Amino acid sequence: MRAVVIHEYGSTDQLSEEEVPKPVITDNQVLVELYTTSINPIDWKVREGYLQERLPFEFPIILGWDAAGVIAETGDNVSGFTAGDKVFARPDTTEKGTYAEYTAVDKELLAKIPDNISFEEAAATPLTGLTAWQCLVDFSDIKRDDKVLIHAGSGGVGSFAIQIAKSFGAHVASTASAKNEEFLKEMGVDQFIDYQTEDFEQKLDDFDIVVDTMGGEIQEKSFNVLKEGGKLVSIAQPPDEETAASKNAKAGFLWLEPDGQQLTRLGKLMEKGDVKAYIGKSFPFNEERIREAHQLSETHHAKGKIVINMK
Ligand SMILES: NC(=O)c1ccc[n+]([C@@H]2O[C@H](COP(=O)([O-])OP(=O)(O)OC[C@H]3O[C@@H](n4cnc5c(N)ncnc54)[C@H](OP(=O)(O)O)[C@@H]3O)[C@@H](O)[C@H]2O)c1
Repeated sequence: MRAVVIHEYGSTDQLSEEEVPKPVITDNQVLVELYTTSINPIDWKVREGYLQERLPFEFPIILGWDAAGVIAETGDNVSGFTAGDKVFARPDTTEKGTYAEYTAVDKELLAKIPDNISFEEAAATPLTGLTAWQCLVDFSDIKRDDKVLIHAGSGGVGSFAIQIAKSFGAHVASTASAKNEEFLKEMGVDQFIDYQTEDFEQKLDDFDIVVDTMGGEIQEKSFNVLKEGGKLVSIAQPPDEETAASKNAKAGFLWLEPDGQQLTRLGKLMEKGDVKAYIGKSFPFNEERIREAHQLSETHHAKGKIVINMK
């Protein structure tokens, strides 16, 4: 099958389109023929070698952690899914990713794509949508009328987090640059903060939840907008425990745990129209376009999600 692989860490020059063997599935997996995958910052972070400790992969590495496609084959222990089903998933973290014509997915990680959702929308969802869900629901136990601050609302995780928070009936504040104000408001943001000209710390107070996608100074300042006993969940870096204790806050670092049942629930919200995957840019599946897609993601200013179409 065709795949885009890397044989060593480094720049986008390492991305190389090659013929590789099709994955062989276990009894608990399905083989998915990929229609679309998506790009996430983890892709270029792994490519650069930044995540070697957490993800000690062996070369050649097929990058990519979002799958949308059709089941080509099912393992003997798989029930509830059959060949021909349209599915999406954040496959498990291995060196055999989704920049490929086929990928193997554990049955627990699979969800069916609702009929009114496209392969592009489906591929844009698993990694970022599940991360946003786990930050708000699992870590923060979000409730109606909670005041929630979401940093980088125009990004992959932020755009899902805004809509999930609104679907729970929360009041949502979110940061982005001025060009994305309309986009954030369209998703339901109640308070827009242009991080280039405004200081969120001065504008917000008494928040129940902060979703920190940025780390550093943004994380430090975020503690000052939390109410006593509030929650700060970071996907960028572990929060300082002393600062958290001084605010009596629940603060922690979250690393996404893929989960097919949660993805099914998220799919239902998408089916109803409560949550939408925003595609900022689509590329065809080849070495050159994947290089371009990485370069766009590396700017830190991509809007919504970047997807790659195999079909
Ligand atoms: N721990 C985990 O499991 C996990 C899971 C998913 C993602 N992550 C990490 O979380 C981070 C965000 O991921 P993502 O997929 O959402 O990234 P992304 O889609 O690349 O985010 C891009 C967005 O960030 C906004 N942005 C840039 N600088 C900003 C600032 N100073 N303040 C507010 N917004 C700013 C940009 O808006 P403008 O163009 O308007 O500036 C842009 O729309 C990445 O570092 C990623 O690796 C971690």
